[in-house]
Amino acid sequence: MGRVSELKAAAQLLSQTRLLTLTGSAGCGKTRLALLLAERVRKGFQGGVWFANLAATDAARVPQVVAAAVQAREAPGKPLIEAVADQIGNKRLLLVMDNCEHVLGACTGLLATLLERCPNLATIATSREWLGAPGEQTLEVPPFSVPDEARAKSVEAIARYEAVALFVERARAVLPEFDLADENASVVAELCRRLDGIPLAIELAAAQLGRTPLETIRARMADRLPTLERGDHDAPARHRTLWTAIQWSYDQLLPEEQQVFRALAVFAEGWSLEAAAAVARPDADDFVTLDLLTRLVDKSMVALAGIPDQGPRYRLLESIRQFALERLDDSDDGTTVGERHREYFLVLAETAAPELRGGSQQASWLRCLETAARGGTRLRAAVGGLALEVLVHPRLPRARAKRVGPGPGAGSREGHHAGARSSMVRIRRPRHVPRAV
Ligand SMILES: Nc1ncnc2c1ncn2[C@@H]1O[C@H](COP(=O)(O)OP(=O)(O)OP(=O)(O)O)[C@@H](O)[C@H]1O
Ligand SMILES: [Mg+2]
Repeated sequence: MGRVSELKAAAQLLSQTRLLTLTGSAGCGKTRLALLLAERVRKGFQGGVWFANLAATDAARVPQVVAAAVQAREAPGKPLIEAVADQIGNKRLLLVMDNCEHVLGACTGLLATLLERCPNLATIATSREWLGAPGEQTLEVPPFSVPDEARAKSVEAIARYEAVALFVERARAVLPEFDLADENASVVAELCRRLDGIPLAIELAAAQLGRTPLETIRARMADRLPTLERGDHDAPARHRTLWTAIQWSYDQLLPEEQQVFRALAVFAEGWSLEAAAAVARPDADDFVTLDLLTRLVDKSMVALAGIPDQGPRYRLLESIRQFALERLDDSDDGTTVGERHREYFLVLAETAAPELRGGSQQASWLRCLETAARGGTRLRAAVGGLALEVLVHPRLPRARAKRVGPGPGAGSREGHHAGARSSMVRIRRPRHVPRAV
């Protein structure tokens, strides 16, 4: 379904490289795209297309799985990888190595040998993180397109989006009479947006229609995304719920990556390097935070949403953010992170206030606050409310300033983490206009 432009781009890349890795976040459709691509280019591979699923394999067993996939036989006294290379030989053969993210080293080692020994071999890997092998080309698989709230209003316009088409198709599997119509199209569109167009999430949501009305699914998701479980047990274990799919990636992170990842959940919609450094790693310099963010992007846990003239900007897909919020709640650092987040924007609003009254950098500060406000309605309220209050009461004691303004959602998840200022928290007071928040 869909994927017309991605398939074209992938086929083009595969014609130029012998190792193409499809990357992307949990359940975004990498495996499916690899299969579609293999089908599309199949005729060019007289030696056939062979598929090795590495999802349930540990690093030591990677050669066995690949050997079984290409039907190579183990021979006494010969390393298994040699038997695989002999079996492939000079054949024009396409090998698909699916779900490599947890065995990256084993895959690169094996591929280095195979690609050197087998001159006509081409490979497609799927992985939440690129392999880092010589000559590798990567293609990031984006989630499905979702209807734009402002523009796609009619049923016809909404139906054109890939995420909606998938929802309708999967809904019909459990509710054959399901159809997109005036009374449900905007709800379906909203669900698809809320799930960021992730095919796995959309499938899981549609599967619920067998036992739950659409309106109830929407109401449940309005505030928090539920775990989203699937009733059938044919799917691989990590695709039974959205959380198990994300947990798979979370388990691959190093402890310091997990700590930063959890902390980033407090940003409702996005953040800059500077904001991440202040909230997630105030103990380290910005290069450490940049390195950690880059690693999280590479592992498809954080998405880049750059604003060209204001430095890199990052975001979490909503389902991943909610997963991270749960991990933050379970950890010991939830309260401290919430305090730092609130404090960062409080300082920002306070610093902005005199400039907003006509300082030399008024325009830059306005732009900066606008960017901050993209953090979501609650943040907009927090920043806007605080800035306004500081304007009206320029000498407002900071403790009072903290109480005014709606803050990041009283009763909201962000509000839940907010607490009194802690003297332990180190605040970076921006002396200049921050590049971005
Ligand atoms: N183009 C598509 N058409 C129809 N269904 C799709 C498409 N892409 C993905 N899906 C569905 O979404 C689910 C997740 O897709 P897929 O397994 O390809 O994701 P993935 O990125 O490989 O996940 P993981 O990161 O866990 O390996 C699958 O059940 C698949 O059926
Ligand atoms: Mg996969």
